[in-house]
Amino acid sequence: MIKDIIKQKIAGLEPVEALRLLSETYPGKIIFSTSFGWEDQVITHMIFANKLPIKVFTLETGRLFPETYYTWNRTLEIYGQPIHAYYPQAAAVEQMVSTKGPSSFYESVENRKECCAIRKIEPLKRALAGNEVWITGIRADQSANREHMENIEWDENNQIIKFHPIFDWSLDNVKQHIRQYNIPYNPLHDKGFPSIGCAPCTRAVREGEDFRAGRWWWEDQSKKECGLHVTEAHDNEEVFFEGNEQN
Ligand code: ADX
Ligand code: SF4
Repeated sequence: MIKDIIKQKIAGLEPVEALRLLSETYPGKIIFSTSFGWEDQVITHMIFANKLPIKVFTLETGRLFPETYYTWNRTLEIYGQPIHAYYPQAAAVEQMVSTKGPSSFYESVENRKECCAIRKIEPLKRALAGNEVWITGIRADQSANREHMENIEWDENNQIIKFHPIFDWSLDNVKQHIRQYNIPYNPLHDKGFPSIGCAPCTRAVREGEDFRAGRWWWEDQSKKECGLHVTEAHDNEEVFFEGNEQN
């Protein structure tokens, strides 16, 4: 399986060398998704500082925090390289908001999934189309579910290889790297937000709370789904997503 061949090729390589090798193996067909969280900023730095030919993109849901836009601007200022924005289809957002209002996601899991599908999943599919490798900032210790993932996966849903270059890093490794290279990061991380998504769907966590407890906090934990990251092992009709951990 292609995933296993790549896994062997990159085994033992530093993240930036693994990214370089993949970008040479899949020229023009490798893409990195950033939400401007600190893991993503570390990877953005690796790509931009080393001028790796990897397209960087973000899913601009229209509901991001002001601090996230600030981080986006700082990143553009510092590196001067493009970050491609993918927006939801205007007609779909207009239809949803006109019929259900601007905060329908709080009313039911179904509404929340509809919003994520319109604002994230459909644009993600457009962003990934034609590519062969998708890079993310996922780390194993972000959640119980992520611990069971691998740094290289085959994403059946999107028919693409997924690579998480800092999968084995601890949060301390991430912070240390940010300090060492003076990488710009989202100021919300210093205000109790370890994991940052859309503003209405993310809150700060309290001391001792799970890393991702602030995401979709009002939902039953078994319902918490995002849809960006479907793992191979869980790819069945009741798809199991990232948000499915204890909190
Ligand atoms: S989520 O599934 O809960 O939303 P999370 O916030 O942990 O994901 O981020 C994991 C990875 O998904 C990030 O490192 C990034 O690669 C990608 N990601 C999440 N949100 C976005 C976004 N808005 N735009 C682009 N990539 C994103
Ligand atoms: Fe909509 Fe919230 Fe999903 Fe963002 S995280 S797309 S605002 S439901």
